[in-house]
Amino acid sequence: MKIAILSNNPNLVSTSRLVEEASKRGHEVEVIRYRDCYLTLDDKHPYVFYEGRKLTDYDAIIPRISNTMTKYGCAVVRQFEMQGIWTLSSSISIARSRDKLRAAQILAKAGIDMPKTLVSRSPADIDILLEQLELPVVIKLATGTHGNGVVLAETKKAAKSALQALYIYNDDGTNILLQEYIKESAGTDIRAFVVGGKVVASMQRQSLDDDFRSNLHKGGSGTAIKLTDEEKKVAIRSAKAMGMHVCGVDLMRSERGPLVLEVNASPGFGIEKVTNRNVAEKIIEYVEHNAARKNSKDRVGA
Ligand SMILES: Nc1ncnc2c1ncn2[C@@H]1O[C@H](COP(=O)(O)OP(=O)(O)O)[C@@H](O)[C@H]1O
Ligand SMILES: [Mg+2]
Repeated sequence: MKIAILSNNPNLVSTSRLVEEASKRGHEVEVIRYRDCYLTLDDKHPYVFYEGRKLTDYDAIIPRISNTMTKYGCAVVRQFEMQGIWTLSSSISIARSRDKLRAAQILAKAGIDMPKTLVSRSPADIDILLEQLELPVVIKLATGTHGNGVVLAETKKAAKSALQALYIYNDDGTNILLQEYIKESAGTDIRAFVVGGKVVASMQRQSLDDDFRSNLHKGGSGTAIKLTDEEKKVAIRSAKAMGMHVCGVDLMRSERGPLVLEVNASPGFGIEKVTNRNVAEKIIEYVEHNAARKNSKDRVGA
């Protein structure tokens, strides 16, 4: 197969591991820096150009869209979708996952348990909102990532002043989430890596200092962990609700069972070392089975 990996950085572990496994399995694989692609549109021909070439003859694309370039990355993926090229992640699923409010709405609709979450834009609502949660509370920017944009407010005063500042000085329209703090799993969370409706690797992440955020980017460390059947089921249902074949589902263990924090469209590959699982190979196998099927179906009518 001819596979394109959309990634702005070929040196990232995730990108290089996918290249390695795809090559090992005999595929022709190329890394396309999507930030350097340009798009042409008219009524019949939605093309993607890269380094002076028109990109048309791929069997599959694997988007690894960065959080810093979601909009353009999704536009490039959409352009491939318009050509009928099979993509491991749809542009819409990536866009949905990058907005914590939108993702929470989708997960809630699918009946997936999450920390209680409240949203408003009005300073006048703050007291009413805070009455509905116990202290401390978590405040999140809907578009934050790597633990940046997540704040723990221990007192009502702190929560109130932080929310006021965010509501008033938030000019770019980012939504602000106010969330129940899950104290039982303070400083830890679980990453379940889902490929094709199965959990292929899972780890627990622990913050190294007294930070309540366990993101590896914030200095957290990971250890392999066995998930309960319920946790696996929740992770798989979350992936399905978000419309993702491959994703990283973040869970917290709580007194009322597993709660989903978020679903990542481009999960990191540090989990391979932590768990000793070949996640990249599973992804390429999934692409082989599913892209091949879609292309043969498409060609019937072509
Ligand atoms: N409601 C919560 N209760 C307790 N800890 C939380 C809660 N929400 C987030 N955290 C901690 O903060 C980290 C970052 O939050 P998350 O929502 O995943 O944002 P990001 O997209 O920045 O990773 C989580 O991995 C978890 O350790
Ligand atoms: Mg996270």
